[in-house]
Amino acid sequence: MNNLPRICWTTSAIIAFAGMLWGLHMAISGDHSNFPAHAHLNLLGWVSLALYGTYYYLAGITRLLIARIQVILAIPGSIIMGVGIAIAHQTGAEELAKLGSLMVIVSAALFVAITIMRPLRINTVN
Ligand code: HEM
Ligand code: HEM
Repeated sequence: MNNLPRICWTTSAIIAFAGMLWGLHMAISGDHSNFPAHAHLNLLGWVSLALYGTYYYLAGITRLLIARIQVILAIPGSIIMGVGIAIAHQTGAEELAKLGSLMVIVSAALFVAITIMRPLRINTVN
């Protein structure tokens, strides 16, 4: 796991594809009841993960341990949360959604720490 930007971007592209297929399925079937699950899978697994990868690319972070832990939590966290919300809506069982959101929130907290520890150094020409 030594190329975090690539791991984030390839995984987010796969999740985007899956999330869009899910959206298409909702649209074609006319059953939109799973939209919160579809929304969170896309917004966490596609948008947030791509933003993490972009930050790591811009900051030159490829294998920092805390960043690896952050990504290891973010990827399964977004999938577990997406699937968990769907299960919660269908059956009322919230355990998986809770586990996924816990992983997502810890991962977000680590990302805060990373942006403080390894801030972007952007050259500005004034
Ligand atoms: C082929 C691509 C996609 C299709 C066909 C699709 C389809 C849908 C459908 C049918 C709904 C339910 C709308 C409703 O009943 O109100 C929905 C909701 C939603 N989708 Fe998608 N979607 C796609 C891609 C995406 C992507 C890429 C994102 C995020 C980056 C996204 C984010 C959302 C959000 C946030 C909602 C909830 C909107 C609300 O609060 O009403 N979708 N989508
Ligand atoms: C730990 C992380 C998160 C938790 C626990 C969480 C929880 C929730 C809850 C409980 C709702 C109301 C759902 C409903 O009424 O059915 C909601 C809605 C929404 N959230 Fe999140 N959220 C999280 C992260 C995010 C993130 C990171 C984004 C965007 C990048 C986001 C975007 C939205 C949107 C667009 C809605 C309205 C559409 C919908 O109902 O699904 N959420 N969220």
